[in-house]
Amino acid sequence: MNKRIDFNDENSNTSANPSFDSVLSARLSRRGLLRGSVGTVGTAVLGGMAVSACGGSDDAVAAAPTVAPTAAPTAAPVPAAALLGFTAVAKSLADTVVVPAGYTASVLYALGDPLTAGTPAYKNDGTDTDFANRAGDHHDGMEWFGLDANGKPSTSATERGLLAINHEATTDEKLSSFFLHANGGTSALPRPAAEVDKEVAIHGVSVVEVKKTADKWATVQASAFNTRFTPLSDMEMSGPARGNALLVTKYSTNGTRMRGTLNNCGTGKTPWGSFLTGEENWAGYFFRIASDNAARGNDKSVTSLNRYGRSQGAASRHGWETGGTADQYARWNNSKLGTSTDGSDDYRNELNGMGYVVEIDAYDKTRTAKKRTALGRYAHESAAFSVPVAGKPLAVYMGDDSRGEYIYKFVSTANWEAADADPVSRMATGDKYLDSGKLYVAKFAADGSGQWVELSITNTAIAGYASYPFADQADVCVNARLAADAVGATKMDRPEWCGVNPANGEIYFTLTNNSNRRVEASSSSQAAVDGPNPRAYTDMKGTSAQSGNPNGHILRMKEGTPGSAATSFTWDVYAFGAQSDADPSKVNLSNLTSDNDFSSPDGLVFSPSTGVMWIQTDDGAYTDMTNCMMLAALPGTQGDGAKKTLGYTRADGSALAVDTFVGKAPGALLKRFLVGPVACEITGLCETPDGKAIFVNIQHPGETTAQADIADPSKYKSLWPSSAGYGAGKRPRSATLVITRNDGGKVGT
Ligand code: FEO
Ligand code: CA
Ligand code: CA
Repeated sequence: MNKRIDFNDENSNTSANPSFDSVLSARLSRRGLLRGSVGTVGTAVLGGMAVSACGGSDDAVAAAPTVAPTAAPTAAPVPAAALLGFTAVAKSLADTVVVPAGYTASVLYALGDPLTAGTPAYKNDGTDTDFANRAGDHHDGMEWFGLDANGKPSTSATERGLLAINHEATTDEKLSSFFLHANGGTSALPRPAAEVDKEVAIHGVSVVEVKKTADKWATVQASAFNTRFTPLSDMEMSGPARGNALLVTKYSTNGTRMRGTLNNCGTGKTPWGSFLTGEENWAGYFFRIASDNAARGNDKSVTSLNRYGRSQGAASRHGWETGGTADQYARWNNSKLGTSTDGSDDYRNELNGMGYVVEIDAYDKTRTAKKRTALGRYAHESAAFSVPVAGKPLAVYMGDDSRGEYIYKFVSTANWEAADADPVSRMATGDKYLDSGKLYVAKFAADGSGQWVELSITNTAIAGYASYPFADQADVCVNARLAADAVGATKMDRPEWCGVNPANGEIYFTLTNNSNRRVEASSSSQAAVDGPNPRAYTDMKGTSAQSGNPNGHILRMKEGTPGSAATSFTWDVYAFGAQSDADPSKVNLSNLTSDNDFSSPDGLVFSPSTGVMWIQTDDGAYTDMTNCMMLAALPGTQGDGAKKTLGYTRADGSALAVDTFVGKAPGALLKRFLVGPVACEITGLCETPDGKAIFVNIQHPGETTAQADIADPSKYKSLWPSSAGYGAGKRPRSATLVITRNDGGKVGT
């Protein structure tokens, strides 16, 4: 995400949902009971767990399964004692990628790199075109899809595969994506069509083949697998909202299709070997005229649009709606302009087609992507599956990243069948598991427990919600935020990625930061401190004071009953972000040291090969001391720490005590592994199945560069990756790294 403008972390949850001051009477006896039932799962269990055996045959060729679906991981898990054997890297403000001694990080795939044999090399001077055949911008979440020597899907291949990569956004200052245009582009409306076309095309998803030859990884420019999905790609609406009146547009008058995917942030990989991409801050790209509320008769669509952050008259991020009268530009104007009653003659309903988890078959670019509406519509980050168990439903854990938004879980109607790990059709398997199920939202209690509340039209709190009259279950999915408001979900400190520990099924959510967390909420957009979001403090960045929860934390949840379908959970905080010299009683609650202090956790990925939990930051608070970073962790178990009571003083002078549950201090089991170049974020991680190569994205290096300085590279805030010897030109570029150990060992050991 881009720190400079607030299209990315909009704040539209003004619901009166509890920050559970009302339930502060902690039921500690129950807590103790729940804790007592938590068994410690040792690393030995890892070998017996089926770590999602993904992949399978090509849809068109019914090949034999490459791996028995319940097989153990291809490589034996590394004992915990052998992990994190590297020396932690120091915080860094240098314009370079720093990794531990004994490791090498190489640039593999950067903005503009060609994806077909005939696409010219990237000149990186603002004159390049044809971005539908080039790497997009702002590389984000990423997943690996192995290929065997014959180019067939393989769960064991380690030297050839596909990377499916999200391209979230682009570096902009005022409207223009200035590094893409020779002179920095047009900062006023209307935007020229040629600029709009480039900017649209650098969003979406890449699929690119990568291959190791003589110990060196490179992309395969001419690979037939290479492809791009952009905001103009035709996609199918799937699940409960398919064909619903809310999805009727001029593009799809029967509400079954949608044009493109946008602001793709976190990712997921299904147990059947397809790619999931989360649409995050899509709302800011659209525009509504200043009189649109009245044009809509102030109907319930206005409530929905406001709740999703698109108020009438607000400027769009890039002004793409001004690129011309053709439909591909008109669709960015989300106003009621037509005369139809159903929206089939304009794009008044266009926003209802964005905000989903989208499934893509990375192995087959002829397959149409599907938007899985059953998983709800919000600012999606990653989608993390429960450990698949034959005969049981699958759970998908997801966060909604805006200030004060919620944590969700989807539970499939279908029970997992091991044979589906190697399906004849990946997209049809997606239909089976992702189009029917129950969507839940998390409601946390002060005593360390919580409930998954089902978002169902049969729930009277939803069916009778005074603020928004839901029509049906499709409406609940499309307006999941409003349904979650109706049932009193807990406002969180910006839920980013989630990950499931393959060793024990525990669920980790990064809560990146929240400038609106307060000791007491004084407006509807603020939320008061509570158990799972317990910190509100002032952090100095140089001479500027930042308030709220500037450094974020990592929440941990454990299902209340075994299995994915549980309707209760317990929680604690695995670790609180902080600078190491901050007050240990109020801020540095996890006793972070100079080897592992971090701020604003965002990406979070468990390695199936080693069990290491990788944590990546997208920070604007500690950046006076260090660029963004990646850390490796060996997490313990939920409940391994203790209750802690934080003391605050209210405005009237009275005392406020907030109980939270702090996981065991990570100590040497959390180590900084990488620091990126200036003004970047670190995001996205996947690995080869042997754990010997990991792929990591550097997003938006130099994003604080001023557009006015475009002609003077000496004023760029970062010169990476050209400074690392990669590619032409000096303009900074988002890029994928491949990281290996010089001795050929597993990364993180
Ligand atoms: Fe795209 Fe919430 O990070
Ligand atoms: Ca600071
Ligand atoms: Ca993110």
